[in-house]
Amino acid sequence: MAVKEIVKFGDDRLRKVCHPVEKFNLRLWLLLRDMADTMYDAEGVGLAGPQIGILRRVVVIDVQDDNGLIELINPEIIAMEGEQAGPEGCLSKPGRQGFVTRPDKVTVRAQDRHGKFFEITGEGLLARAFCHEIDHLDGKLYIDIEDHEIVEEEEA
Ligand code: NI
Repeated sequence: MAVKEIVKFGDDRLRKVCHPVEKFNLRLWLLLRDMADTMYDAEGVGLAGPQIGILRRVVVIDVQDDNGLIELINPEIIAMEGEQAGPEGCLSKPGRQGFVTRPDKVTVRAQDRHGKFFEITGEGLLARAFCHEIDHLDGKLYIDIEDHEIVEEEEA
């Protein structure tokens, strides 16, 4: 298990356009393992490469559904439909949430850890996670598109 430090909002690395993965080797598999370990340790539903300082197009997602852990290498959104509006947060800014409108159904084309292409469709939270994490690979954060910040009232 290798839990990495998560890069926080304000760090330039979260604003970079990441490079495609070209080699599907042990180094990638170790990165995927570290990313999953870090995501689960932080109790998040998704993590992108730049969030641990790796500027490569790699994403892990687990929204606790039948898909289990999803690994996306060089992912692209190829279809989307509908609309959902709701709270969204990011492991790079714990304790903050924004109100963000996203498509309700999203299909992604990506490569797996061996370089094989596949497609996956998600709805609801999974669709939101696809959009959020793939945005990270282009240096985009949810605060760029949120309608407003959601501030939780502290109990007196
Ligand atoms: Ni995020």
